[in-house]
Amino acid sequence: MKYNFDEIVDRRGTYTTKWDGRDWLLSLGMTERYDDDTIPLYSADMDIACAPKIVEALHAAADHRIFGYSLIPPEYKKAIIDWFKRRLDWQINEDEIVYNAGTVPALSTCVKAFTQPSDSIIVQLPAYPAFASATRNNGRKMLNNALVNNNGYYTIDFEDFEEKAKQRETTLFFLCSPHNPTGRVFTRDELKRLSDICAANGVIIVADEIHGDLIRQSETFYPIATVSESDKHIVSCTGINKTFNTAGLHCSNLVITDKALRRKYLRERGHEVPTPFAISALIAAYNESEDWLDELKVYLDGTLKWIDEFLKERMPKVKMFVPEGTYIIWMDFRGYGISDKEVHDRIYSEANVLLEDGFLFGAGGDGFQRMCIPAPRAVIKEAFERIAGAFADLG
Ligand SMILES: Cc1ncc(COP(=O)(O)O)c(C=O)c1O
Repeated sequence: MKYNFDEIVDRRGTYTTKWDGRDWLLSLGMTERYDDDTIPLYSADMDIACAPKIVEALHAAADHRIFGYSLIPPEYKKAIIDWFKRRLDWQINEDEIVYNAGTVPALSTCVKAFTQPSDSIIVQLPAYPAFASATRNNGRKMLNNALVNNNGYYTIDFEDFEEKAKQRETTLFFLCSPHNPTGRVFTRDELKRLSDICAANGVIIVADEIHGDLIRQSETFYPIATVSESDKHIVSCTGINKTFNTAGLHCSNLVITDKALRRKYLRERGHEVPTPFAISALIAAYNESEDWLDELKVYLDGTLKWIDEFLKERMPKVKMFVPEGTYIIWMDFRGYGISDKEVHDRIYSEANVLLEDGFLFGAGGDGFQRMCIPAPRAVIKEAFERIAGAFADLG
């Protein structure tokens, strides 16, 4: 491999939530223990150094020594257009791209821009909590089209989805594709069905596709905007934050093809432009770091293979479906027959590994633990050895 993903980079002292957020995490009740020996694997950012071309571009931006107001240059949008055309055969036009300082704030802006206070929003639980909070914090009603768990492989209940989409108050659907935390990469057919139902019922789809570049080598990811006859009811969220481990640079981009929707969105969002660092990083990422991403995917697949084998051999009571996409695993601990609190205590206090309790992902999350695995493999192995040790007495 050209890149060394095994390198351990000490992130302490760099203002990270994961490694410097001890007091904050304890105050949230995420864990009762956080010390120098804690392995935090709860947050979806990587403990892996960024692609060298991105680092070089950031150095060059810093070397200018002046960090004044910036504007989005044509190279920025061209890099996005070329990336999605080249990798996914998705044709995006320049004026459809809308910058945002993060996908999470964009979800909330979508709710305010596209729905009324009396409206309902469909979410597919268990899901990344930002969808529920964007809905509830803005006073909208959440309708759960619960994903169906078939022995760890989650599928969509289309009848229930259609029934919810048909309700008069339903105006928006938060699609998470690939799905966090279940790891599903929905098929073309599944996505087309969702899109068709929404189009027929006047429901706008806000598709969070920020894990779309991070799928297994054997899988194919389809942006939902590419599977339907029309994409006028679709707002797609893309970004370099996950793909290139630049979440701290706050650089995500929506694709909104419908002019009226775009106008509504921009009115709600207000003035927002990327920093010179985000601009430089995005151009270097999309134009010059593709080989880094392709190697990273090989590395992540290898880590997942190791985890799958480890669990089967050492913790057979834990069920995990190797995710089709994302670098997140969703482990079912119910096989131990102990309470969620005891599972939590064994992992977080005894093993001293910080994950995320499944209940945080809403209905269907009880009994599960979510782990983010984009770290040097030695760290992941150490975490699993410790967790296995904490459950050894239970077989
Ligand atoms: C599905 C999903 N959406 C959004 C985010 C956060 O995105 P951003 O950093 O662009 O706000 C995450 C991070 O874990 C995520 O998993």
